[in-house]
Amino acid sequence: MQHSFPVTRTTNPKQKPDPNNLLFGTVFSDHMFEMSFNQDKGWYDGKIVPYGPIVLEPSTAVFHYAQEMFEGLKAYRSDDGRILLFRPEKNAERANVTNARMCIPEINETLMVEAIKKIVEVDQDWIPEAEGTSLYIRPFIIATDTYLGLRPSQTFKFYIILSPVGDYYKGGLSPTKILVEDKYVRAVVGGTGFAKVGGNYAASIKAQEEAIKKGYNQVLWLDGVERKYVEEIGTSNAFFKIDGEIVTSPLTGTILPGITRDSVIQLLKHWGVKVTERRFTIQDIYDANASGKLDEVFATGTAAVISPVGELCWKDRVITINNNEIGEISRKLYDAITGIQRGKIKDEFGWTVEV
Ligand code: COI
Repeated sequence: MQHSFPVTRTTNPKQKPDPNNLLFGTVFSDHMFEMSFNQDKGWYDGKIVPYGPIVLEPSTAVFHYAQEMFEGLKAYRSDDGRILLFRPEKNAERANVTNARMCIPEINETLMVEAIKKIVEVDQDWIPEAEGTSLYIRPFIIATDTYLGLRPSQTFKFYIILSPVGDYYKGGLSPTKILVEDKYVRAVVGGTGFAKVGGNYAASIKAQEEAIKKGYNQVLWLDGVERKYVEEIGTSNAFFKIDGEIVTSPLTGTILPGITRDSVIQLLKHWGVKVTERRFTIQDIYDANASGKLDEVFATGTAAVISPVGELCWKDRVITINNNEIGEISRKLYDAITGIQRGKIKDEFGWTVEV
């Protein structure tokens, strides 16, 4: 390691949750990583401290103008006892893409990965081992100037917290019901759709809530201009298998460049499955379904991994996909990705990083 971080251990370790009944993101480990930024020192004073409240003045910039960013990745314990991270360097790379968009200072990517490794090492007893569980890692940066004018903050804090998690959607790998959103939009070109910022998620809650009230799990986002091109599903990237070809939306500024998305594309290519990044409309999807060519729909993300879609509803028109069953490709991708992540199958891509 190039960087070393002092560790202050908690004197009051918490009781660990039941590994067989884990929800997503409800309990947090004993420690957190914390680092500061100011104009003179850059990023400095990286350290591991007991997990606990952050004390900030009410005037702190992040509370008012949401100058912040976050990342998400997972740590796994392999059967032979190793601790594995999945492509953490991609999170560090994406963090800096987000930082650049949000006027947050760049963070050294090696330092970020080393900080992730260190906090996971310190709290390694928090990595759950049951099938479908993992230790979710949430790095985030907040603007900490106490100032109500709108300008880039001069000071920031970077944290990493850890949460032992189960499935993101209750029911695990089971088909979801998705409502095509035609009232609210998630992103437009020139906005922050490609960046991992809280504001994107805050603005999406209303649509998600309305969908849940109607009996759906999530929304499918259409483009913000013409409201016809398919963009994402909830907080995940969206894939469609049409007539043997798998299509997903291209990264044109409104789509989050998901690390699971990238891994899925690479795996499909490796298997010789045709996968194309191109724009397509929700009408194309309904047409494909009408002609019997829509075989599978699934969403990909760090939290949810692979989430098959069993039903779509667009303007009251409901279609059932693959008899509301988990598709062959969804299952194969889920098994391959989680198998590589947990060290159960050979990682031919060099994706896993040992702590
Ligand atoms: C993730 O999939 O890691 C995310 O950041 C989405 C979040 C809503 C849990």
